[in-house]
Amino acid sequence: MPIPRCAPILVLGGTGFVGTALAAQLVTRGHELTLPSRDREKVKEDLILLPGVTVIDADIHDPAVLAELVPGHAAVINLVGILHGTPAAFRHAHVELTGKIIAAAQAAGVRRYLHMSALGADVAGTSSYQRSKGEAEALVRASGLDWTIYRPSLIFGQGRCFVSLFANLLKLAPVVPLAGANARMQPVWVEDVARAFVAALEDDALLGQSLNLVGPDIYTLQALVSRIGAAAGHPRPVFGIPNWLGKLQAGALQILPRPPMSRDNVDSLKRDNIDPAGFPTVLGWQPTALEAILPTLLAGGRVRDRFLSLRRRV
Ligand SMILES: NC(=O)c1ccc[n+]([C@@H]2O[C@H](COP(=O)([O-])OP(=O)(O)OC[C@H]3O[C@@H](n4cnc5c(N)ncnc54)[C@H](OP(=O)(O)O)[C@@H]3O)[C@@H](O)[C@H]2O)c1
Repeated sequence: MPIPRCAPILVLGGTGFVGTALAAQLVTRGHELTLPSRDREKVKEDLILLPGVTVIDADIHDPAVLAELVPGHAAVINLVGILHGTPAAFRHAHVELTGKIIAAAQAAGVRRYLHMSALGADVAGTSSYQRSKGEAEALVRASGLDWTIYRPSLIFGQGRCFVSLFANLLKLAPVVPLAGANARMQPVWVEDVARAFVAALEDDALLGQSLNLVGPDIYTLQALVSRIGAAAGHPRPVFGIPNWLGKLQAGALQILPRPPMSRDNVDSLKRDNIDPAGFPTVLGWQPTALEAILPTLLAGGRVRDRFLSLRRRV
């Protein structure tokens, strides 16, 4: 059964980049959202302006906490993900947590479960990120719930995504040596990703489907970083380096609060992150190109984002 408008939804991992875009789309349909966080104070200002959104402090790794959180919701959406960490941290955040969420949904009789995976997720993938995402997908497929899995390539949009990350880096770096420079990716707009999640609540045809979410254009990582530099007014020479050097570089960068690359990311870049079949036709719309959004992203964003950034400074 489609989830009716205004039904309460639990969004785990809903306080981040994708979650903020998704929350904005869900509240326009009248949904009441529960968004647990490890640190409500850190995130609440980006989401607090949205009507019907409740951000709470909760340790969602605790099955007892999940057993209290899940009942009363019409659907559970799991967006939790990390990009950097040890193999154990990836398993903890992606595999073990997914298992606990599925168990809580089964126990509470909440059947609709939407799962955020990633393009390239594969139990035999080249990185811990990909392998743990692949293991989590297997749990979802075996869950017996009414599930949909989304597997996006790199996601761009307002907020903390690769565009702002590389634009800031390019301001400071005179040259950009890149591991995986020839890896190809197919960036997809965060609003298209969020819209796909909304569609999976409302359309039973999307149940039991694992769908790759990709944009209309394919770039090598090198071309993508060069394009961002040019558009941001900081064109820099971008060149490839071997993976072993990339891992040394990533090791050094990992001390930064927001490292642009980790050793595990270098391993992910051993494979292309594209789907030549393109955006799923079953979703029924054309995805938006990075080129159409890039100027807005680099111009400082929407009025609401500028307001939030001013608010943060105050
Ligand atoms: N961004 C991309 O380009 C991209 C591409 C493909 C797939 N994805 C997937 O999309 C999902 C969302 O990505 P995003 O870019 O929105 O990430 P994000 O901005 O870093 O947000 C991550 C979310 O997960 C929660 N979280 C992180 N680690 C956690 C942990 N150990 N335990 C519990 N909660 C944790 C965070 O909550 P609190 O910090 O509030 O607790 C936050 O709400 C992830 O699953 C990611 O793998 C992203």
